[in-house]
Amino acid sequence: MSDFINGFWGYYVAFVVLAGIAWCLWLIFSQRKWLKPQSGKVEDTGHVWDGDLREMNNPVPRWWTMMYIMMCVFGLGYLVLYPGLGAFQGRLAYTSAQEVKQDQAEEEASVKPIYARFAKMDIPQIAADPEAHLIGERLFMNNCAQCHGSDAKGSTSFPNLVEGDSIYGRQPEVLTATITKGRNGVMPALGAAIDAGTAGDIAQYVRSLSGLAHDQIRIVRGKGEYMNACAACHGAEGKGNKALGAPNLTDDVWLYGSSEATIVNGILNGRNNRMPAQEQTLTPEQIRMVAAWVWGLSKGVDVTSATVAGAPAK
Ligand code: HEC
Ligand code: HEC
Repeated sequence: MSDFINGFWGYYVAFVVLAGIAWCLWLIFSQRKWLKPQSGKVEDTGHVWDGDLREMNNPVPRWWTMMYIMMCVFGLGYLVLYPGLGAFQGRLAYTSAQEVKQDQAEEEASVKPIYARFAKMDIPQIAADPEAHLIGERLFMNNCAQCHGSDAKGSTSFPNLVEGDSIYGRQPEVLTATITKGRNGVMPALGAAIDAGTAGDIAQYVRSLSGLAHDQIRIVRGKGEYMNACAACHGAEGKGNKALGAPNLTDDVWLYGSSEATIVNGILNGRNNRMPAQEQTLTPEQIRMVAAWVWGLSKGVDVTSATVAGAPAK
């Protein structure tokens, strides 16, 4: 297969390459009077530097000339065997794509027996397996730790996967879906409808939901505004909505922070938080391993799936 859009460019490139080599050879032969010293007398070019450094016109050494010609021959030989002459693939039909494919196939074949053992296990069983634990941990460190932290406890805007309430849930099938397809938590900017003062009152009310210090008078107004503007997503009681990815606002677990200024900023400007889908990078088997590792971290937090019943204690 050729990467050129039409045949002409293949010939064009081949012509330029061959003409380049032909030019190099012509150059050395056209200059061949330099190859032999002329009548034993070395010419003086007349250039003088630093008072007494004179430039002579000695012929280049024979080994240099030989090397030059060998390079041209090598180039021609290479072009016969390997791709380089336009669309011509070379006699060896070598492509690096084939090499990559072969490496991938070898890699897959070598890990297949390892993953095969886990194919029939469910996530809680995988989580309890010491070998799976090591694989899952390594996958996490390579693919997830840069965002969620090497202790998986997250940081601003990156959720804590170990403790506290989870945005989407930590049931095995939810974790697998989150990792495979990614997540995008979007809270719309409400600045056009809500002024900063009102947003401050709402923020006071939101703080009160988590039992944080708040202004008793402002929360009264804040609560009314909350019911109008926020309850649709975060719930009338502020417990959140996992299907929408709207966090629980009553648990004192904060993705961004609990200060009035931070909450007001979120209300006025919105939030847009993306977890990238991993299905392009990880195989389904690897996703199960890392999901099991993450599930194992949060055991006893809010793992409420039916499959959890048989989970072995750690
Ligand atoms: C580029 C950064 C990034 C990487 C890499 C990343 N994540 Fe995330 N992850 C996020 C963000 C941001 C969110 C929050 C998304 C939201 O708010 O909707 C998230 C959310 C999650 C959640 C849901 C948390 C909850 O509270 O419900 C899980 C589980 C998760 N990630 C696991 C993983 C795993 C496992 C990997 C590695 C395979 C990974 N993430 C890689 C940024 C990342
Ligand atoms: C359309 C649904 C929607 C509406 C309406 C909405 N939110 Fe949100 N809110 C979200 C989502 C989704 C997130 C999570 C964003 C993310 O993943 O980063 C969020 C995040 C937040 C956070 C951050 C929580 C944390 O852990 O740091 C706060 C606080 C918040 N919302 C308060 C409010 C308030 C107050 C209102 C009303 C003025 C409101 N939201 C209206 C969907 C909504």
